[in-house]
Amino acid sequence: MPISQSIQNSLAGSSMIRKMFEEGLSLKAAHGAENVFDFSLGNPDRDPPAAFLETLKALTAKPAAGAHSYMPNAGYFTTREAIARKVSCDQGVSLGGGDIVMACGAAGALNVVFKTILNPGDEVIVSKPFFMEYRHYAHNHGGRLVEIPAKPDFGLDVDAIEAALSAKTAAVLINFPNNPTGRIYSAETLAALSGALLRHGARSGRFPYLIADEPYRELAYGGRAVPPVLSAYPHAIVVSSFSKNLSLPGERIGYIAAAPGIDDKQNLLAGFIYATRILGFVNAPALMQRALAAFFERQDALSRDDMLEVYTSRRQAFMEVLNGAGITYIEPEGAFYIFARVPCGKNSVGDDALFCEHLKKHLILAVPGSAFGAPGYARFAYCVQETAIRASAQAFKNAVKSWAVY
Ligand SMILES: Cc1ncc(COP(=O)(O)O)c(C=O)c1O
Repeated sequence: MPISQSIQNSLAGSSMIRKMFEEGLSLKAAHGAENVFDFSLGNPDRDPPAAFLETLKALTAKPAAGAHSYMPNAGYFTTREAIARKVSCDQGVSLGGGDIVMACGAAGALNVVFKTILNPGDEVIVSKPFFMEYRHYAHNHGGRLVEIPAKPDFGLDVDAIEAALSAKTAAVLINFPNNPTGRIYSAETLAALSGALLRHGARSGRFPYLIADEPYRELAYGGRAVPPVLSAYPHAIVVSSFSKNLSLPGERIGYIAAAPGIDDKQNLLAGFIYATRILGFVNAPALMQRALAAFFERQDALSRDDMLEVYTSRRQAFMEVLNGAGITYIEPEGAFYIFARVPCGKNSVGDDALFCEHLKKHLILAVPGSAFGAPGYARFAYCVQETAIRASAQAFKNAVKSWAVY
């Protein structure tokens, strides 16, 4: 039986990251998982913090009446209040439970936001390189991404974004700490972006939303601050999740938070709640919502376990491995990815797809920068054991040596 033309077309150009995932499985089956250096996926290997698992255990040991029932589409109010307290703290604003809508991960949250705000043909501006699923999410809801190259150091090019604003711009979508570059934008950059959006809104009568996708907010290295967005621009929306900082990607739990002064806030939130329902999410997972509410009550909840410490050490190990192999990279400020420059071969200048194929021969899996709109780079995810990172050092050296002949 036929499938829709649109899905058929999308399948043809399907995600490179997923393809790597499948190839990784067959390489592991052939060579043994311990011999394959799989840095392809942002799928944390760490268990969730012990305090979270204890909370979960206690909840499942004594299930409350109705614990598995439907609930309001926005989520449990106690959970929304707990998230509002956390977001208020992160963002320097004062939010209540009514300002939060629980979601099925940041991915679910973005789909809900796009469904709510996009009219057919509307544009969403993103800075390139970016998490490529964004294209699909915008397309799902009749929108189109406008991809603006970042500055050479992968900072936001605010002037270029300002020049791309048009009557069709529904939103500017930013992601920081960034996947794939690890960049964290400064408060000054956010202020400049806010200024550009306000000027455009005043001129055109349409103030674009600023959507910040922040699942890596808690993973910032060397004491770096991740500046707030909700207090930087009145029409800002944060989407986030606990996939990365609490290692819960399979549990699909996240949220949407709207800035306190956002235009027509009640209508916007009603839109998010309605979209959650009609997209078939219905509500975010009940058990995870209850676990989060109880977890955030604990004194040790915000100690971040040893997550940041572990990733700090892995980041250092990865940089040493790449230094040893002579591969240069953008030093990550946050998240758990290293975006490395493809070394020059004999005849191939920065061919990232070829380089990643070549790495595979040395049992190293990485994602070509083209998958993020940045040819000439390769992304390595270091959410894997540090022993595996260190053990890959020789394979990287061999790969770079033999790459010189390509
Ligand atoms: C930048 C970015 N946004 C959103 C997501 C989706 O995360 P979630 O598991 O919260 O849906 C990811 C996942 O890798 C990501 O890297």
